[in-house]
Amino acid sequence: MTPTDWQTRIGDMWAAEWPRTDRSFTHLSPILNAAILAAAPAHAATALDIGCGAGGTSLGVVTARSDLTVTGIDLSPALVAIARDRVPQARFHVADAARDPIRGQPDLIFSRHGVMFFTDPVAAFAHVRMQVRPGASLVFSCFRDRRHNHWAGDLVAAVTGVAPAASSGYVPGPFGFADPQLVEDILTRAGWSAVRAQAVDFAYVAGAGDDPVADAIAYFTRIGPLASTLAAADPADRLRLLDRLATALARHSDGSCVQFPASAWLWRAQAGKCA
Ligand SMILES: C[S@@+](CC[C@H](N)C(=O)[O-])C[C@H]1O[C@@H](n2cnc3c(N)ncnc32)[C@H](O)[C@@H]1O
Repeated sequence: MTPTDWQTRIGDMWAAEWPRTDRSFTHLSPILNAAILAAAPAHAATALDIGCGAGGTSLGVVTARSDLTVTGIDLSPALVAIARDRVPQARFHVADAARDPIRGQPDLIFSRHGVMFFTDPVAAFAHVRMQVRPGASLVFSCFRDRRHNHWAGDLVAAVTGVAPAASSGYVPGPFGFADPQLVEDILTRAGWSAVRAQAVDFAYVAGAGDDPVADAIAYFTRIGPLASTLAAADPADRLRLLDRLATALARHSDGSCVQFPASAWLWRAQAGKCA
């Protein structure tokens, strides 16, 4: 997954699907938002949402703390346009967090799953650290390994017959920060201190509404680990894969919702006091 993917086709797809991507984090967001708010200075301050997407986390933060000046940045113009419409209380810019100047010396930096796509994560986190206020707090979430995220592990194996390979080393993408040792090393080398991780289990919502299985199929044909396989399959294979997907999703449906066991790392760190 490259920065260009987010600026174009993947960002555009996330923009088209933002209500479903936002909904998938329904049970993680309150935990992440509480951690962000706990790290926020008690006084009026500036906050930065990295990889803000459609602005869901900025919305949660600025709603709870209207005295915070929240700015979201993202590579995708389509997602930034949605965030601007959705969260007029915050500001949003198209920018690359890895290299573009960061305005206003933020006291608080946060992200919901927006920081594991950097080509050079040590350089990117060092770049951010050098432009925030010394002592600023960093709070972000990212996925744990696919073994803990059944919608990306077991489900893929059930549909394709092949278990996805375990993560090894850093590869930019949704599971790029699955290994906590690697992330601790990245943040420490980038000059962040008081680096610590907390595992958070949650239910990943894939489908809802009158026909939650059909809703989840519509979602997974556009976003997630099966989307490219389904798009590349010939018509007969695609029908077979969709049939298996429907069967697997039905096993996770209670009739009103399709949910999967999922798990994230919640990271906290502080910008060192000296450059
Ligand atoms: C998995 S999505 C999460 C979006 C949003 N935070 C949410 O929770 O819905 C990752 C986001 O990070 C953004 N992103 C990736 N690399 C980035 C970079 N270098 N600078 C700014 N945004 C970036 C993508 O465009 C995308 O919107």
